[in-house]
Amino acid sequence: MSQRTLVLLKPDAVRRGLIGEIIGRIERKADWTISALELRTLGQDVLEQHYGEHKGKPFYEPLVAFMSSGPVVALVVEGERVIEGVRALAGPTDPIAAAPGSIRGDFGTIVRENLIHASDSEESAERELKIFFPSLV
Ligand code: PPS
Repeated sequence: MSQRTLVLLKPDAVRRGLIGEIIGRIERKADWTISALELRTLGQDVLEQHYGEHKGKPFYEPLVAFMSSGPVVALVVEGERVIEGVRALAGPTDPIAAAPGSIRGDFGTIVRENLIHASDSEESAERELKIFFPSLV
């Protein structure tokens, strides 16, 4: 089933020079295509829309501060079961719980600085794509 998903390489991934490494892992998956890509620094408005469902949780304010601390790379990735697939490549939220071989398992230690965001469902993907790439929808 062909799908599309929103992927963000977070400010820690950009600062640490891991853009090529992470995009390379996505590019090497068979039949997946990067159909849009942009380096940008996210403002409060975009972050409020993107993470609105987490407002009020203890991690919300630090997460928004971190996500606006430097540029991110926003990507649209299309292909076979790509929503589940990119999340499998990323590994679980907590990098210490993530298996070696996953992006977070190989490069992360801190929950907040977990390198990558990927939409978690078709509904989230469509909502998030509208926020980051409104001209595509
Ligand atoms: S929840 O409450 O289960 O829905 O949260 P979760 O899906 O695990 O995470 C939602 C996003 O918040 C980030 N997160 C955190 N950031 C900073 N500190 C802590 N403790 C923390 N816990 C979760 C998590 O990485 C998710 O962001 P994205 O961009 O989707 O990865």
